[in-house]
Amino acid sequence: MTDKINEKAFTSLLPIFAFIKPYKMIVASALIALLLTAAVNLSLGQGVKFVIDNGFIAGSQEQLSSAILILIIMISLLAIGTFCRFFLMSLLGERVSGDIRKAVFNKIITLHPSYFEENRSGEIMSRLTTDTALLQSIVGSSFSMALRSFLMLIGGIIMLLITNLKLTSIVLVCVPLILVPMIVFGRKVRKLAASSQDAIADIGTYVGEIIQNIKVVQSYNHEEKEKNAFSDEVEKAFEVAKKRVKQRSFLIAVVIFLTFSAISFMLWIGGMDVLSGKMSGGELGAFVFYAIMVAMSVATIAEVYGELQRAAGSATRLLELLKVKSDITTSGNPKPINQTSQIDIEFENVNFSYPSRPNSPALKNINLKIANGQTIALVGPSGAGKTTMFELLQRFYDPQSGQVKLKNTNICQVALTELRHSMGMVPQHPILFSSDVWHNIRYGRPNATEQEVIHAAKQAHAHEFIENLPDGYSSFLGEQGVRLSGGQKQRIALARAILKDPDILLLDEATSALDAQSEHHVQAALDQLMKNHTTVIIAHRLATVLHADLIVVMDQGEIVDIGNHSDLLKSSTLYNRLCELQFDKSAS
Ligand SMILES: Nc1ncnc2c1ncn2[C@@H]1O[C@H](COP(=O)(O)OP(=O)(O)O)[C@@H](O)[C@H]1O
Ligand SMILES: [Mg+2]
Repeated sequence: MTDKINEKAFTSLLPIFAFIKPYKMIVASALIALLLTAAVNLSLGQGVKFVIDNGFIAGSQEQLSSAILILIIMISLLAIGTFCRFFLMSLLGERVSGDIRKAVFNKIITLHPSYFEENRSGEIMSRLTTDTALLQSIVGSSFSMALRSFLMLIGGIIMLLITNLKLTSIVLVCVPLILVPMIVFGRKVRKLAASSQDAIADIGTYVGEIIQNIKVVQSYNHEEKEKNAFSDEVEKAFEVAKKRVKQRSFLIAVVIFLTFSAISFMLWIGGMDVLSGKMSGGELGAFVFYAIMVAMSVATIAEVYGELQRAAGSATRLLELLKVKSDITTSGNPKPINQTSQIDIEFENVNFSYPSRPNSPALKNINLKIANGQTIALVGPSGAGKTTMFELLQRFYDPQSGQVKLKNTNICQVALTELRHSMGMVPQHPILFSSDVWHNIRYGRPNATEQEVIHAAKQAHAHEFIENLPDGYSSFLGEQGVRLSGGQKQRIALARAILKDPDILLLDEATSALDAQSEHHVQAALDQLMKNHTTVIIAHRLATVLHADLIVVMDQGEIVDIGNHSDLLKSSTLYNRLCELQFDKSAS
């Protein structure tokens, strides 16, 4: 039963060979080095025998010297061979794990965003780091160690049989005696090691969250509580580690005792034979040498076996990730965007629920046409589904029914890069990368010149404050732009979209975090932009909405009213209510 599971586990390692395949030459060279060292290792026993019998027993200084010389040559060969094997295999391990990391990352970056709602980012990250590291050690050392030990085991047993049949039978009885406790304890140690690793990972997650939310923790005076909670986590990890260390120490003690007892026993039996002249001292020396070699090989194989099992788990997880297909793909051959179409964007009977909430629709039966160059405003209470419209437009999700069209083509048939190239989005919560201003604005168009970046920043009314940063445009913004205010972040995100200069501009409450004065300036820049772009703007401020060609009033995933400002004031109760709230707010 367990063997079956193991077999299955090991076959999951097979796909790793696809990553090794490009490096056949390295593998072949390492194998040659491996064979060489194994051969030298095995003949070393003969060297030992020669030194004892011809040097010590025969009492010849000359022969001893030449024997030692040969021994040193063999040892040098062994060193060179080992260097080559170790170097090549370790290099291969690093290379392969690097390649796997790249493959996993290249996969992740194209996956549909909802994948990351179901899978925690911490877990994915640990696959990229821990799991690939484990595979690295498999490819880089464990595998060649197993192969080497296997060669030594077979060769060692043959040499033992050649050297002395009677003693060999003792060894063959002793080895399992040593192995059984090793395997039993080894398994326990490994299990504990795995749960120890999990406990450490939990600690990492915990610290990560606290650091991210440090201001909330301190503002609510939760330091003591968090200290205690963290202390519990650490103690849990320690308890697991303590058990592991105890088992491991016990394992080492038992193995040492059994190994040396067995060797002593052999020396006793063999010594008797030497004394009675049935075998030479050199033969006994060589025999002990081979016996130790066999025992060590078996021990290595047992250890590597466990590691291979663990790696099989890692490989399974990694390959699962590599096999995930993005839900967002272009169906068939991508169609070119029909530039002559008068309608830029169209929602046709669109129904959509987020995958994590299949039973509560976020959009219900949406129908909307947006003509070229129009400015459309989406208004409505929070949770109405406004942002969701943008998500569907950019194909972060696909609707369950109905279709979204760009220039009269279902966006599922447009190449994703083409689709997203035509849109520029300023999200509700601006996203900045932990780099400088240049990098963050250039994200919109990586090959833009400095002048173009500065021009975009000026249009977004960001130039002035950027100039006042310690290093101007080269200022580092910190992780997620922590060194900027909300309004500043928003203006950088705006500059990025302006720099991209897309056909369609999507602004999600893009001015919500600005103070009245900056908003006034940014609004002026936006009005200019909106003139020659199709713009969909999610706004809760009247100022923006007034300029729109069409105002779409949304509530609970539905479009409840469409019209311009004055129409809606007459016809839409929800719009009137939203306006009243606005006036109240600006009055207070
Ligand atoms: N990633 C998500 N997974 C599940 N539900 C979501 C997700 N994002 C938004 N929702 C839900 O969808 C509805 C519409 O959200 P959204 O479009 O963000 O509203 P708005 O932008 O109008 O405030 C809300 O009920 C919200 O809770
Ligand atoms: Mg929103």
